[in-house]
Amino acid sequence: MNAVACVLALAGCSGVQSALDPAGGDALRIYWLTVIMTAGAILIFLVVTSLVLYAVFAPPERRAWLGSRRTIVYGGLAFPIVVLSMLLPYGLIVMRDTDAPVRGALPIEVIGEQYWWRVKYSAERGQPEFSTANEIVVPIGRPIAVSVTAADVIHSFWIPNFGGKIDMIPGRINRLNFTAERPGVYRGVCAEFCGDQHARMAFDVVAMEPVAFDAWRAAQAKPAAEPDLPLLVRGRELFRVGGCGSCHVVRGTDANGWFGPDLTHVGSRRTIGAGQFPNNIGTLAGWIANTQHIKPGVRMPSYGSFTGEDLRALAGYLESLK
Ligand code: CUA
Repeated sequence: MNAVACVLALAGCSGVQSALDPAGGDALRIYWLTVIMTAGAILIFLVVTSLVLYAVFAPPERRAWLGSRRTIVYGGLAFPIVVLSMLLPYGLIVMRDTDAPVRGALPIEVIGEQYWWRVKYSAERGQPEFSTANEIVVPIGRPIAVSVTAADVIHSFWIPNFGGKIDMIPGRINRLNFTAERPGVYRGVCAEFCGDQHARMAFDVVAMEPVAFDAWRAAQAKPAAEPDLPLLVRGRELFRVGGCGSCHVVRGTDANGWFGPDLTHVGSRRTIGAGQFPNNIGTLAGWIANTQHIKPGVRMPSYGSFTGEDLRALAGYLESLK
Protein backbone atom coordinates (compact mmCIF):
# COMPACT_ATOMS: atom_id res chain seq x y z
CA MET A 1 0.00 0.00 0.00
CA ASN A 2 2.75 2.38 0.97
CA ALA A 3 4.67 1.49 -2.17
CA VAL A 4 1.60 2.28 -4.29
CA ALA A 5 1.16 5.64 -2.56
CA CYS A 6 4.83 6.38 -3.08
CA VAL A 7 4.70 5.57 -6.81
CA LEU A 8 1.56 7.69 -7.20
CA ALA A 9 3.22 10.58 -5.40
CA LEU A 10 6.27 10.36 -7.64
CA ALA A 11 4.11 10.11 -10.77
CA GLY A 12 2.53 13.40 -9.69
CA CYS A 13 5.94 15.05 -9.95
CA SER A 14 6.32 14.52 -13.68
CA GLY A 15 4.36 16.54 -16.17
CA VAL A 16 3.89 19.79 -18.00
CA GLN A 17 4.02 21.98 -14.92
CA SER A 18 6.51 20.45 -12.55
CA ALA A 19 9.82 21.69 -11.21
CA LEU A 20 10.64 18.03 -10.55
CA ASP A 21 10.54 17.17 -14.25
CA PRO A 22 13.22 19.51 -15.66
CA ALA A 23 13.26 20.01 -19.44
CA GLY A 24 15.99 22.64 -19.65
CA GLY A 25 19.32 23.73 -18.19
CA ASP A 26 18.38 25.97 -15.28
CA ALA A 27 15.58 23.74 -14.13
CA LEU A 28 18.02 20.83 -13.98
CA ARG A 29 20.44 22.74 -11.76
CA ILE A 30 17.62 23.90 -9.52
CA TYR A 31 16.29 20.34 -9.45
CA TRP A 32 19.63 18.99 -8.19
CA LEU A 33 19.90 21.78 -5.64
CA THR A 34 16.45 20.75 -4.38
CA VAL A 35 17.33 17.04 -4.33
CA ILE A 36 20.60 17.61 -2.46
CA MET A 37 19.02 20.00 0.06
CA THR A 38 16.02 17.73 0.64
CA ALA A 39 18.01 14.50 0.90
CA GLY A 40 20.56 16.17 3.19
CA ALA A 41 17.83 17.64 5.39
CA ILE A 42 16.07 14.25 5.68
CA LEU A 43 19.33 12.52 6.55
CA ILE A 44 20.25 15.07 9.20
CA PHE A 45 16.71 15.00 10.60
CA LEU A 46 16.86 11.21 10.95
CA VAL A 47 20.26 11.29 12.65
CA VAL A 48 19.22 14.04 15.09
CA THR A 49 15.90 12.32 15.85
CA SER A 50 17.72 9.03 16.53
CA LEU A 51 20.11 10.81 18.87
CA VAL A 52 17.23 12.46 20.74
CA LEU A 53 15.44 9.12 21.14
CA TYR A 54 18.69 7.52 22.25
CA ALA A 55 19.27 10.31 24.77
CA VAL A 56 15.79 9.80 26.21
CA PHE A 57 15.51 6.03 26.25
CA ALA A 58 19.05 4.59 26.53
CA PRO A 59 20.33 3.58 29.98
CA PRO A 60 22.06 6.53 31.69
CA GLU A 61 25.58 4.99 31.66
CA ARG A 62 25.44 4.42 27.87
CA ARG A 63 24.18 7.89 26.90
CA ALA A 64 26.66 9.89 28.97
CA TRP A 65 28.81 10.72 25.93
CA LEU A 66 25.91 12.68 24.41
CA GLY A 67 26.35 15.40 26.97
CA SER A 68 30.12 15.56 26.61
CA ARG A 69 31.91 18.69 25.52
CA ARG A 70 33.29 16.86 22.48
CA THR A 71 29.83 15.90 21.18
CA ILE A 72 28.63 19.47 21.48
CA VAL A 73 31.70 21.00 19.81
CA TYR A 74 31.76 18.52 16.90
CA GLY A 75 28.06 17.79 16.47
CA GLY A 76 26.55 21.12 17.50
CA LEU A 77 29.17 23.54 16.20
CA ALA A 78 31.63 22.10 13.69
CA PHE A 79 29.11 19.99 11.75
CA PRO A 80 26.57 22.77 11.02
CA ILE A 81 29.36 25.23 10.17
CA VAL A 82 30.90 22.82 7.65
CA VAL A 83 27.57 21.81 6.08
CA LEU A 84 26.20 25.34 5.78
CA SER A 85 29.53 26.69 4.50
CA MET A 86 29.36 24.15 1.69
CA LEU A 87 25.69 24.68 0.85
CA LEU A 88 25.88 28.46 0.69
CA PRO A 89 28.52 28.67 -2.08
CA TYR A 90 26.78 25.84 -3.94
CA GLY A 91 23.46 27.74 -3.85
CA LEU A 92 25.20 30.97 -4.89
CA ILE A 93 26.88 29.25 -7.84
CA VAL A 94 23.53 27.87 -9.04
CA MET A 95 22.03 31.36 -8.73
CA ARG A 96 24.91 32.94 -10.64
CA ASP A 97 24.62 30.46 -13.50
CA THR A 98 20.86 30.83 -13.90
CA ASP A 99 20.87 34.47 -14.99
CA ALA A 100 24.21 34.79 -16.80
CA PRO A 101 23.86 36.45 -20.22
CA VAL A 102 24.23 34.03 -23.12
CA ARG A 103 25.58 34.89 -26.57
CA GLY A 104 23.38 34.07 -29.52
CA ALA A 105 20.28 33.74 -27.37
CA LEU A 106 16.83 34.34 -28.83
CA PRO A 107 15.41 37.45 -27.14
CA ILE A 108 11.76 37.31 -26.09
CA GLU A 109 10.01 40.01 -24.12
CA VAL A 110 7.12 39.04 -21.85
CA ILE A 111 4.89 41.61 -20.21
CA GLY A 112 2.54 40.63 -17.40
CA GLU A 113 -0.91 42.19 -17.63
CA GLN A 114 -4.02 41.66 -15.51
CA TYR A 115 -4.47 38.70 -16.27
CA TRP A 116 -2.64 37.60 -19.36
CA TRP A 117 0.78 37.63 -20.99
CA ARG A 118 1.91 39.87 -23.82
CA VAL A 119 4.74 38.17 -25.69
CA LYS A 120 7.02 40.09 -28.07
CA TYR A 121 9.54 38.67 -30.49
CA SER A 122 12.03 41.29 -31.63
CA ALA A 123 13.24 41.67 -35.21
CA GLU A 124 16.05 39.25 -35.91
CA ARG A 125 17.86 37.74 -38.92
CA GLY A 126 15.69 39.63 -41.37
CA GLN A 127 12.48 38.58 -39.60
CA PRO A 128 10.24 41.43 -38.45
CA GLU A 129 9.10 41.85 -34.87
CA PHE A 130 5.64 40.80 -33.82
CA SER A 131 3.47 40.30 -30.75
CA THR A 132 1.45 37.36 -29.60
CA ALA A 133 -0.17 36.43 -26.30
CA ASN A 134 -0.35 33.67 -23.71
CA GLU A 135 1.91 31.39 -25.68
CA ILE A 136 5.70 31.31 -25.91
CA VAL A 137 7.03 29.27 -28.77
CA VAL A 138 10.73 28.42 -28.64
CA PRO A 139 13.16 26.35 -30.67
CA ILE A 140 14.84 23.52 -28.81
CA GLY A 141 18.61 23.66 -28.29
CA ARG A 142 18.93 27.43 -28.54
CA PRO A 143 19.24 29.59 -25.41
CA ILE A 144 16.22 31.82 -24.84
CA ALA A 145 16.78 35.18 -23.15
CA VAL A 146 13.49 36.26 -21.64
CA SER A 147 13.18 39.82 -20.39
CA VAL A 148 10.12 40.42 -18.29
CA THR A 149 8.27 43.44 -17.00
CA ALA A 150 4.70 44.30 -16.03
CA ALA A 151 2.16 46.77 -17.35
CA ASP A 152 0.12 47.24 -14.19
CA VAL A 153 0.99 45.40 -10.97
CA ILE A 154 3.68 42.92 -9.96
CA HIS A 155 3.33 39.48 -11.50
CA SER A 156 5.76 36.58 -11.41
CA PHE A 157 6.85 34.59 -14.43
CA TRP A 158 7.36 30.89 -13.78
CA ILE A 159 7.82 27.92 -16.08
CA PRO A 160 8.59 25.16 -13.56
CA ASN A 161 10.03 22.77 -16.15
CA PHE A 162 12.54 25.37 -17.34
CA GLY A 163 13.69 27.27 -14.30
CA GLY A 164 12.93 29.40 -11.31
CA LYS A 165 10.47 32.23 -10.81
CA ILE A 166 11.22 35.79 -11.75
CA ASP A 167 9.28 38.86 -10.68
CA MET A 168 7.66 41.07 -13.31
CA ILE A 169 7.83 44.59 -11.93
CA PRO A 170 6.35 47.68 -13.59
CA GLY A 171 9.12 49.99 -14.79
CA ARG A 172 11.85 47.39 -14.38
CA ILE A 173 13.23 44.71 -16.65
CA ASN A 174 14.29 41.39 -15.17
CA ARG A 175 15.99 38.67 -17.14
CA LEU A 176 15.85 34.92 -17.21
CA ASN A 177 17.52 32.41 -19.53
CA PHE A 178 16.53 28.91 -20.35
CA THR A 179 17.15 26.36 -23.05
CA ALA A 180 14.49 23.84 -23.96
CA GLU A 181 16.10 20.47 -24.43
CA ARG A 182 13.21 18.41 -25.70
CA PRO A 183 10.14 19.25 -27.76
CA GLY A 184 6.85 19.43 -25.94
CA VAL A 185 4.21 21.67 -24.46
CA TYR A 186 4.86 22.99 -20.99
CA ARG A 187 2.78 25.22 -18.76
CA GLY A 188 3.82 28.46 -17.17
CA VAL A 189 1.94 30.33 -14.48
CA CYS A 190 1.83 33.61 -12.64
CA ALA A 191 3.42 32.98 -9.25
CA GLU A 192 2.67 36.25 -7.48
CA PHE A 193 -0.79 37.28 -6.35
CA CYS A 194 -1.81 40.05 -8.75
CA GLY A 195 -5.57 40.42 -8.29
CA ASP A 196 -8.87 38.55 -8.60
CA GLN A 197 -7.87 36.35 -11.50
CA HIS A 198 -4.29 35.60 -10.47
CA ALA A 199 -5.06 31.88 -10.38
CA ARG A 200 -6.30 32.05 -13.98
CA MET A 201 -3.18 33.52 -15.45
CA ALA A 202 -1.33 30.76 -17.25
CA PHE A 203 0.42 30.28 -20.56
CA ASP A 204 1.80 27.56 -22.77
CA VAL A 205 5.42 27.12 -23.70
CA VAL A 206 5.69 25.18 -26.92
CA ALA A 207 9.19 23.86 -27.61
CA MET A 208 9.73 22.70 -31.17
CA GLU A 209 12.46 21.72 -33.62
CA PRO A 210 14.32 24.77 -35.02
CA VAL A 211 12.92 24.22 -38.54
CA ALA A 212 9.35 24.13 -37.25
CA PHE A 213 10.08 27.21 -35.14
CA ASP A 214 11.31 29.16 -38.18
CA ALA A 215 8.14 28.24 -40.05
CA TRP A 216 6.01 29.28 -37.07
CA ARG A 217 7.85 32.57 -36.79
CA ALA A 218 7.47 33.36 -40.48
CA ALA A 219 3.73 32.61 -40.29
CA GLN A 220 3.25 34.78 -37.19
CA ALA A 221 5.04 37.72 -38.77
CA LYS A 222 2.55 37.78 -41.65
CA PRO A 223 -0.61 39.90 -41.56
CA ALA A 224 -3.92 38.20 -40.76
CA ALA A 225 -5.45 35.83 -43.29
CA GLU A 226 -8.25 37.17 -45.48
CA PRO A 227 -11.59 35.50 -44.69
CA ASP A 228 -12.62 33.20 -47.54
CA LEU A 229 -16.22 32.34 -46.57
CA PRO A 230 -19.24 34.67 -46.33
CA LEU A 231 -19.68 33.72 -42.65
CA LEU A 232 -16.11 34.73 -41.88
CA VAL A 233 -16.42 37.96 -43.85
CA ARG A 234 -19.44 38.71 -41.71
CA GLY A 235 -17.39 37.86 -38.61
CA ARG A 236 -14.73 40.36 -39.62
CA GLU A 237 -17.38 43.01 -40.16
CA LEU A 238 -18.86 42.33 -36.70
CA PHE A 239 -15.36 42.57 -35.24
CA ARG A 240 -15.03 45.99 -36.89
CA VAL A 241 -18.41 47.46 -35.99
CA GLY A 242 -18.36 45.88 -32.51
CA GLY A 243 -15.36 48.06 -31.71
CA CYS A 244 -13.08 45.07 -30.97
CA GLY A 245 -10.31 46.84 -32.85
CA SER A 246 -10.01 49.57 -30.26
CA CYS A 247 -8.49 47.06 -27.84
CA HIS A 248 -7.06 44.42 -30.15
CA VAL A 249 -4.62 44.46 -33.03
CA VAL A 250 -5.30 42.38 -36.11
CA ARG A 251 -2.40 43.19 -38.42
CA GLY A 252 -3.55 43.75 -41.99
CA THR A 253 -6.86 45.28 -40.87
CA ASP A 254 -7.64 48.61 -39.24
CA ALA A 255 -7.89 46.99 -35.81
CA ASN A 256 -5.00 48.60 -33.96
CA GLY A 257 -5.81 48.73 -30.24
CA TRP A 258 -2.96 47.75 -27.96
CA PHE A 259 -4.94 47.33 -24.75
CA GLY A 260 -5.67 43.64 -25.14
CA PRO A 261 -3.91 40.70 -26.78
CA ASP A 262 -2.82 40.87 -30.42
CA LEU A 263 -5.30 38.67 -32.28
CA THR A 264 -3.59 38.55 -35.69
CA HIS A 265 -3.03 34.80 -35.37
CA VAL A 266 -5.26 34.02 -32.42
CA GLY A 267 -6.56 30.90 -34.17
CA SER A 268 -3.10 29.35 -34.06
CA ARG A 269 -2.92 29.40 -30.27
CA ARG A 270 -3.72 26.40 -28.18
CA THR A 271 -5.80 28.10 -25.52
CA ILE A 272 -7.83 31.25 -24.85
CA GLY A 273 -8.30 33.36 -21.73
CA ALA A 274 -4.62 32.88 -20.68
CA GLY A 275 -4.61 29.11 -20.56
CA GLN A 276 -8.23 28.66 -19.46
CA PHE A 277 -9.91 26.84 -22.35
CA PRO A 278 -8.92 24.96 -25.46
CA ASN A 279 -9.15 27.34 -28.38
CA ASN A 280 -12.12 26.59 -30.64
CA ILE A 281 -15.22 28.32 -32.01
CA GLY A 282 -17.35 27.24 -29.04
CA THR A 283 -15.02 28.53 -26.35
CA LEU A 284 -14.29 31.73 -28.29
CA ALA A 285 -18.01 32.47 -28.64
CA GLY A 286 -18.59 31.69 -24.95
CA TRP A 287 -15.70 33.93 -23.99
CA ILE A 288 -16.92 36.91 -26.03
CA ALA A 289 -20.47 36.64 -24.69
CA ASN A 290 -19.53 35.93 -21.07
CA THR A 291 -16.07 37.27 -20.32
CA GLN A 292 -17.03 38.80 -17.00
CA HIS A 293 -18.80 35.64 -15.90
CA ILE A 294 -15.87 33.41 -16.79
CA LYS A 295 -13.11 35.65 -15.51
CA PRO A 296 -14.64 38.46 -13.43
CA GLY A 297 -12.39 41.49 -13.17
CA VAL A 298 -10.60 41.24 -16.52
CA ARG A 299 -10.63 44.36 -18.63
CA MET A 300 -12.73 42.96 -21.45
CA PRO A 301 -16.47 43.46 -20.96
CA SER A 302 -18.97 40.70 -21.77
CA TYR A 303 -20.59 41.21 -25.17
CA GLY A 304 -23.90 39.60 -24.31
CA SER A 305 -25.87 41.44 -26.98
CA PHE A 306 -24.60 39.42 -29.94
CA THR A 307 -27.07 36.91 -31.34
CA GLY A 308 -26.03 33.28 -31.56
CA GLU A 309 -25.48 33.63 -35.27
CA ASP A 310 -23.35 36.75 -34.82
CA LEU A 311 -21.28 35.01 -32.21
CA ARG A 312 -20.73 32.07 -34.49
CA ALA A 313 -19.55 34.36 -37.28
CA LEU A 314 -17.30 36.37 -34.97
CA ALA A 315 -15.81 33.32 -33.27
CA GLY A 316 -15.45 31.61 -36.64
CA TYR A 317 -13.53 34.60 -37.96
CA LEU A 318 -11.17 34.61 -34.96
CA GLU A 319 -10.69 30.87 -35.20
CA SER A 320 -9.76 31.26 -38.88
CA LEU A 321 -6.89 33.61 -37.99
CA LYS A 322 -4.27 30.85 -37.94
CU1 CUA B 1 -0.37 37.80 -12.56
CU2 CUA B 1 -0.60 36.62 -10.50
